[in-house]
Formats: sequence, structure tokens, C-alpha cells
Amino acid sequence: MAILSIVVVSLICGLSMFAVRGASNDQLEVYSWWTGPGEEEGLAAMAKSFEGTNPGVRFVNAAVSGGAGSNAKAILASRLLANDPPDSYQRHAGLELLDDVRSGKVQDLTDLYRQQGWAKVFPKGLIDNLTIDDRIYAVPVNIHRANLMWYLPKTLQDLGISAPPKTWKEFLAQAEQIKAKGKTPLAVGPEWTQKHLLETVLLGELGPDNYDKLWAGQLSWLSPEVSGALDTYAKVLAVSDVKSAAGDWQPQLDKVVSGSAVYAVMGDWSSSYLEQTKNLAWQTGYNVVASPGSDGVYDFLSDSFTLPTGARRPDLARKWLIECGSTDGQNLFNPLKGSIPARTDADAALYKNYLSWALQQWRDPKTRIVGSLTHGVVANNAYNAEIDSALGLFVQDDDQGKFARTVEQQYRETQ
Ligand code: GAL
Repeated sequence: MAILSIVVVSLICGLSMFAVRGASNDQLEVYSWWTGPGEEEGLAAMAKSFEGTNPGVRFVNAAVSGGAGSNAKAILASRLLANDPPDSYQRHAGLELLDDVRSGKVQDLTDLYRQQGWAKVFPKGLIDNLTIDDRIYAVPVNIHRANLMWYLPKTLQDLGISAPPKTWKEFLAQAEQIKAKGKTPLAVGPEWTQKHLLETVLLGELGPDNYDKLWAGQLSWLSPEVSGALDTYAKVLAVSDVKSAAGDWQPQLDKVVSGSAVYAVMGDWSSSYLEQTKNLAWQTGYNVVASPGSDGVYDFLSDSFTLPTGARRPDLARKWLIECGSTDGQNLFNPLKGSIPARTDADAALYKNYLSWALQQWRDPKTRIVGSLTHGVVANNAYNAEIDSALGLFVQDDDQGKFARTVEQQYRETQ
């Protein structure tokens, strides 16, 4: 009897394991952090297109909310650890991918690149950011720009400010004028937005050469240049609403939209939110400039999708990746997402308003391209996590020296 029960239980377990592992091919689970307004519309458009070209297959949207993957990345890490990967998941191009590759969590996609001829249609610099030891591990769907400052022309007009600041020094001077009129000079949101602000202050104050050197370990956090930039960062934070910051990047922008705050530094996913959710017209309703001191520089990041090791539906996942890398997929996704296509051959006419400016800047050979810290390009995950902890303390205790010493040491320990 006992033996019989064991046999029955094993059979049931075996069958259910089979049901899970051998998963039916009628759905595809895609993991990202695109849930809120300005985030989810582009994904929904690609999902619909994917379902259209794969009749009978349901697109299961496993997105976890929280800007910049602030919650999604942690949950994904535990799923990967438990060998329970989605069929495809979002990662940024750059060093963020490295851990997954080193720990064997993602599959080599070089053959798919060859089959699709992608080497010819994605910029080489971008492919380099997806390549580790000569193998390519993710498919980029877009290019975003991080170093941007958003505002409403009407608010500037009301305050008698003729133009947004070109340097952080000029911003701090304007901030006094703004505070005197009872408004917040700069809106910020949760921790990741404060790090996003830090990277743009570093870029604006150090310039692109030293910014690159900092991430390459060739410029010390203890150098006078970086100390000066951190000093500026502390002053910028002091005229922001960091003490009462809550919500995510959309509530951060809402303060600019309502006019209670004047500026917000955020990536260009904001353009989709401001135009499509808030119905503001580019240049008249809302406007944007490069964050102070970074005109002519494109602080880039790229959302990409992977094929996890052990994905239950690898064939469907490959079809999804083909959708992500295709001209049609990119042209469906990006105008809604507020990003420009990763492909170099996409039709520029589809990219209007802010996006036409972004595309022109990205394609301008004079534009200097650097990589984002907050969005995975220039720092590996361990180093980025150390910066998060140290920055959390810095924002609380204002101890710049301690912050610089910690991240300087952590750079060496996490390489
Ligand atoms: C970035 C991501 C963007 C956007 C943003 C805000 O990390 O690359 O696509 O989603 O976070 O959530």
C-alpha cells in the first residue's frame, strides 16, 4: 500500500513537473518593469503585434512595477536563483548583463544576430555593450537618454526666468530666485532618481572625459574634480524636495506639471508621459534641455531582452526577440515608450516632437555618447548596489568624504 502511494505521488509529481518544465506552447512570459503610464503602452503594442504574428499564443505580461526596475530586479534575482526564469526578461545593455552571463543565466544569441543580420543594423558601440567574450547576449529594443532636465515654459515665464540653466552653478543661482517665490527648484523621487540626478551632476561638472574615467577607475572619487562635483550635488539636493520625496518618477514629474516644482532631471521616458498621459505639447506645454553642463552629450541606456537559460519556451522566446529587434517592433514600441529605435535603419519620420530632436542628437556624429550609471551601462551590479547603499547614507548624513571613500574602495572590491 505504502509503495503504491509512493508510486502514485511520484507519478503525480512527475506529471506536474512535466506540466511546468515542458510548458505548453500557448503562452510566452515576458518580464519587465513597465507597468505605469508612460511605461506600459509600448510593451502592450509589441505584445499585441507578437500575438498577431503568433496566433494562439498568449503574451503573459509579468511586469513588476517600480521605476528603473527598483523592485523587478530583486524579484527576478530570486526567480533566477530558483531556476524559475520567465521566457524573456529585460536587462540594460552594459555591465548590468555581466553577472547573468558569468553565472550562466542567459543564453548566447550570436546565432540569432547572424540569422537576422543584426550586426548591420545596430550601432557597433551598442552591440559591444551586449557582447561578452565575443558572444552577444541580449537584443536591444531602444535607446533612452538620461541627461535631461524637464520643465514647463509657463512656469519659467511666471517666474521671470528667461531660459533653463546651462550649468549647475546657474541652476543654483536660479534656485534662490525660485525659492523666494515659494516654489521647489527641483523635484526628485525615490532613491534611484537621486542616483540618476547624481550621475547627471557628475557628468555636467566633470565633463564626458572625466565622467568616463571615473567609471573606468582612472579618476579617483577622492580627486579634487570629483569632490567639487559632489559638493555641487549636495547643494543641488539641498534645493530639491528630497526630504519629502515619495512616489516614483511619474509623481516626481507631476510636481513640475502642477507648477509646484520648476525642474526635474529624468530620462526621456518622461516625454511619453508628458505628451501622452498629461497631454502637454512639446516646446509649448512642456520643454526639455540637456541637464546642466551636458549639452552635446548623450548619456545613453538601452532596454534589451534576453533568452534565459532554462526558459520554458525558448522557441517562442526567440520569436519574441525577433519582434524586439525588428523594424516593425521597434517602430511600434518606441514612439509610445518615449525612446528612439536601437536600429539605425528605422524610419525617422515616425519620431515626432521630442523624439525627432532625440533622434537627430543621437545620429549627429558630433554628439558625444557616454553610458548611464543608474541604468546599467557603466557599472556592474555589485558596484551599483554599493553606490546605492553609500548614496542612501550620503543623502541622509551629508557626509561627502565618507561617501567618496566608500565608493572609491568599493570600486576596487567589486571589479
Ligand atoms: C529605466 C528603463 C526605462 C524606464 C525607466 C523608468 O531603467 O531603462 O525604460 O523604464 O527605467 O522606469
